[in-house]
Amino acid sequence: MTIKSEKEANETGNVKSFLKLADRLSYVPSYIFAKLDKEKQALQNKGIDVIDLSLGSPDLPSPKVVVDECVRAVQDPTNYRYPPFWGQKQFKEAAAAWMNKRFSIQIDAEHEILPLSGSKEGITHLAFAIINPGDLSIVPSPYYPVHARGTLLAGGTVYELPLLEKNKFIPDLDSIPQSVLDKAKLFFISFPNNPTGAICDFEFLEKLTNLCIKNQILLISDLAYSEITFDGFTASSIFQVKGAKDIAIEFHTLSKTYSMAGWRIAFVAGNRKIIEALYEIKTNTDYGVCNIVQASSIKAFSIPSSEHKKNSMIYQERRDVILEELKGLGWNILKPGGAMYIWLPVPKKYKSSLEFSYDLLHTAHVATIPGSSFGTYGEGYVRIALVDKKERLREAALRMKTAGLVYQ
Ligand SMILES: Cc1ncc(COP(=O)(O)O)c(C=O)c1O
Repeated sequence: MTIKSEKEANETGNVKSFLKLADRLSYVPSYIFAKLDKEKQALQNKGIDVIDLSLGSPDLPSPKVVVDECVRAVQDPTNYRYPPFWGQKQFKEAAAAWMNKRFSIQIDAEHEILPLSGSKEGITHLAFAIINPGDLSIVPSPYYPVHARGTLLAGGTVYELPLLEKNKFIPDLDSIPQSVLDKAKLFFISFPNNPTGAICDFEFLEKLTNLCIKNQILLISDLAYSEITFDGFTASSIFQVKGAKDIAIEFHTLSKTYSMAGWRIAFVAGNRKIIEALYEIKTNTDYGVCNIVQASSIKAFSIPSSEHKKNSMIYQERRDVILEELKGLGWNILKPGGAMYIWLPVPKKYKSSLEFSYDLLHTAHVATIPGSSFGTYGEGYVRIALVDKKERLREAALRMKTAGLVYQ
């Protein structure tokens, strides 16, 4: 095999023409977010005002106390060296104290918490710590892509458990064949849910935990939207269920809770043995979260819950505005109980969610994500993220009306 010079490679523009890439790249489809982003950018480069409701990247400001602390932390030379592998003690203690206060649960800060460069990173690395080629994960579908892709990249396979509108997008646990339960190593859940906006009750969490205990499956709760809930609902941690810590871990991100998506910080909490396995992978692949980001984020955990309620109210008002507008265009949508998305059924004249998403982008200049990028059961929907002001959401609906993009 001859490896071409960088110049030659750039000229061919196609790495595959000279180098056989890892097979694992073919296990995952290319990230549709990235593809559509390019098309969106091409329109924006032409000076077109695209209303961008694609990524779930909060438009609300990061908390001032965090930003102020960051300004201090960046001047502190002790932050310039590598961060400790296990994470900063103060960050871990603050995260554990927050979980204690918020959910009334005890978490051992030293052994049961690990900071992450985002939940996405942690979930992917977790799969590398648990999944062998051929192993199986149960993933409710539609899913946040990494729930499935981590397993696939590690050489495993995924059982897509359907989230259906008729069941309010809650999985039917009784429908899972025993052969799947016998084989599965991981079971993912994420409520409030991306992309459907569904919420689950405590009884569901209890039933799921007992199922995982009975079948010895590691339960992974991705609680990214715990603090974005509507109409008075409060989300529960999996650890509020008795016995859950024996078989579960839970991911919490500051991306949504504190509008800090660009800072790249999250943490995982729970079963010590599993956290240690993830730590093994991480110590071999990265140095952990930037010291400055960890130090600043500590301040976030003491922000009063009234701030979360305020932010939830902003998303709730946006939800209500867009649902009202979409109703006028023929859509009658199940009200999301949390998270920051509208899960919009595709009009019948379109063959696919991708086709509808393209039409929305090119004729109405509204950027969304086609449901097919969230798994098999995402087809037939597109996802609208509530990441712009009410006026812009109204404008998006108006543009859809003008372009004849209505529900028929
Ligand atoms: C369910 C869910 N988990 C995790 C993430 C990513 O979180 P982070 O920014 O911490 O990587 C997202 C982002 O949209 C999400 O929707």
